Amino acid sequence: MATHPYPAELVTAWRLADGSSVGLRPIRPEDAQMEQEFVKNLSAGSRYFRFMNTVRELTPVMLARFTQIDYEREMAFVAVREEGGRETEIAVARYVTNPDGETCEFAIVVADSWQRKGLGRRMLERLIEVARARGLKAMVGHVLAENRPMLALCGKLGFETSNHPEDGALRRVTLALDEQRTHRKPGNAVKRSSEVLPMASDEGSEEASKKIDMEKVAQLIDALERDLAKVRSGSRDVQLLRDEVETLKNVLNSPIRRHHWVREGLHGMRKAFEGGLETAVADGLKAGQYIAEIGRILGM
Ligand SMILES: CC(C)(COP(=O)(O)OP(=O)(O)OC[C@H]1O[C@@H](n2cnc3c(N)ncnc32)[C@H](O)[C@@H]1OP(=O)(O)O)[C@@H](O)C(=O)NCCC(=O)NCCS
Repeated sequence: MATHPYPAELVTAWRLADGSSVGLRPIRPEDAQMEQEFVKNLSAGSRYFRFMNTVRELTPVMLARFTQIDYEREMAFVAVREEGGRETEIAVARYVTNPDGETCEFAIVVADSWQRKGLGRRMLERLIEVARARGLKAMVGHVLAENRPMLALCGKLGFETSNHPEDGALRRVTLALDEQRTHRKPGNAVKRSSEVLPMASDEGSEEASKKIDMEKVAQLIDALERDLAKVRSGSRDVQLLRDEVETLKNVLNSPIRRHHWVREGLHGMRKAFEGGLETAVADGLKAGQYIAEIGRILGM
């Protein structure tokens, strides 16, 4: 749940080079259905570049995570078009502050029919402005090496590109946000900085620096899947847990096993167990055992 008030001061409107007007605003919990539609309508290629797996639509857990954000730690801008009194999402760009509190990780996707109109660049520039204004020191992204449009866009905005320490298929892009290190020309891209910031990714924090044991995660998922199959309850909590298991399985089966995704999924699962799951627990699911095991894997 969002714990900070909606930042209404960040609502703006733009006119793109082709004359179309676009609204830009921080995402709200009520945008869940619009966000789901947006993801479903993306081409398989755009979805793959954004999510790096074959996800066709967002699970309820992902949807909640994407739309119910903590505006202090995170920001997600949606670009919307209004037609017939109804808003349609045409792009979304977000960052989440890493546990180190100093760096953030970003992601962006523009609807296929709205690509190459300057929207991606403007949204990313806006995201950078907000992250910088909030005192974050660096913005980091993980981009598939084959994603040339994104790498080109990042290059134009001054991101440094390096090999990813975990996945040969990925590149890590990093932008120093520290004012003293970078200079912005009004209305122009951030200049390339020759200085490289200290470690700027989710690997930076103490917790994150402990590598996740993927074998243990796979065993946990297997056990949980078996237990969940025995649970009769069709409650929302149980469904959320099943979705979370499915998402983690996708990540584990993907050639790109992103540790921070797994970590995030495990945190979500732990929260779901801690949040009650009365029906499932009544049906014999050993919440305490799972909470402990997830804690061990996360090194908590
Ligand atoms: C990458 C992406 C966000 C770019 O958004 P966009 O609105 O199309 O980009 P813009 O129109 O603002 O283009 C900005 C620059 O990016 C580069 N670029 C964008 N699309 C490109 C393409 N198809 N081929 C080569 N360069 C491209 C260009 O350098 C371009 O500048 P130019 O128009 O002056 O040549 C968009 O293609 C997208 O959503 N892709 C799928 C999801 C994804 O890859 N997300 C990134 C994961 S973090």
